[in-house]
Amino acid sequence: MKILIENIKTIVGANPVPQETLAGKEMSVLPCVHNGWISIEDGNISGVGEMKEGMPAKAKFDKVINAERRFAFPSWCDSHTHIVYAGSREGEFVDRIKGLSYEEIARNGGGILNSAERLNKTSEDELFESAMHRLNEITKYGTGAVEIKSGYGLSVEGEIKMLRVIKRLKEHSPLTIKATFLGAHAIPVKYKPNRQEYIDLIINEMLPIIGKEKLADYCDVFCDRGFFTEDETDAILQAGWKHGLQPKIHANELDYSGGIQVGVKNKALSVDHLEFTGDEEIKTLLASKTMPTLLPSTAFFLGLHYPPARKMIDAGLPLALATDYNPGSSPSGRMAFILSLACVKMKMLPEEAINAATVNSAYAMGISDTHGTITVGKTASLFITHPIPSINYLPYSFGSDLIEQVIVEGEIIS
Ligand code: NIG
Ligand code: FE
Repeated sequence: MKILIENIKTIVGANPVPQETLAGKEMSVLPCVHNGWISIEDGNISGVGEMKEGMPAKAKFDKVINAERRFAFPSWCDSHTHIVYAGSREGEFVDRIKGLSYEEIARNGGGILNSAERLNKTSEDELFESAMHRLNEITKYGTGAVEIKSGYGLSVEGEIKMLRVIKRLKEHSPLTIKATFLGAHAIPVKYKPNRQEYIDLIINEMLPIIGKEKLADYCDVFCDRGFFTEDETDAILQAGWKHGLQPKIHANELDYSGGIQVGVKNKALSVDHLEFTGDEEIKTLLASKTMPTLLPSTAFFLGLHYPPARKMIDAGLPLALATDYNPGSSPSGRMAFILSLACVKMKMLPEEAINAATVNSAYAMGISDTHGTITVGKTASLFITHPIPSINYLPYSFGSDLIEQVIVEGEIIS
């Protein structure tokens, strides 16, 4: 379908020569075109310009959209989710209101183990249907690309089942999807007396199948207090690389776990969470190509303290933002709310938050060539807002639905 969008008040992230990542002061620079047009052909952006310079003849387009008083944004790239899961966990939500902590619930067999028990009893078809429903939901929120993790199987069959579901989602959803293997999400109860046996299962049984069947793009480990140690993480990440899987890990959510250091040592594409980030961790990240990714809705939902985003940007780091959409610590996939949290709770400027949720989160899922900006030649995944006064209005009006029209890979979705 050939689409022309005209009279756009502001095209956000319209960078003709985008950088792969934006760090430090660069994060507050957001290239925009005012009173402009975008043309879309064969799923890609074929032209971007200002109205006053003229635009292509309307006759050659199947559809012309008048976006007067509206903003066009590149689709959000949600680089960290767990949206394949069985059942919700609002019981634990109430337990936390009554005073139990996330870690206490996990130690009592709740948390990730609770989700694993349910997932192993749920069929592949049911998992596919419910995850597809969540994908359709986040598409309406403006997400055009999403990374999805396994990690609620915690058995050879369960993990492979989850990754097969993600493979089917890749085939059936218009969204761009990356799959991450997270067998090392928690130690299953039966392996608690001998955790090394479970780590051996990941390394010697799960990874070879996943590598052979090409079921994942990345390898993750929950490197944190009470979950996986630095040494265990190191061994699993090295084994992942042997099957072609670059690391992309959970680190420093519950403590200074060494996860950032072990992630950087293993050339992780991203290290995610980072509530516990100090000077040492910042120094390590500055000397790397690893994208620090913050998930502020987890801190919001679990009542943790927020990662030191301001300090990290001021030290010259890039930052990405993602939802962590999962049934335990962040049961929401609304990227706009993540931006509001980033601004209100972590003192990021709206421009910084937008760059973190587009350019830098595209990098954090390995899709910088096609996503993250509105640039000729990139995939035409973008959304058009309702009439709004400014860019700042988007994180300011938290909870509101400001999206009027969504285009994914050149097709009008809603
Ligand atoms: O990213 N931190 C580890 N894993 C998930 C939570 C998963 C769960 O509680 O089900 C997270 O927060
Ligand atoms: Fe997560």
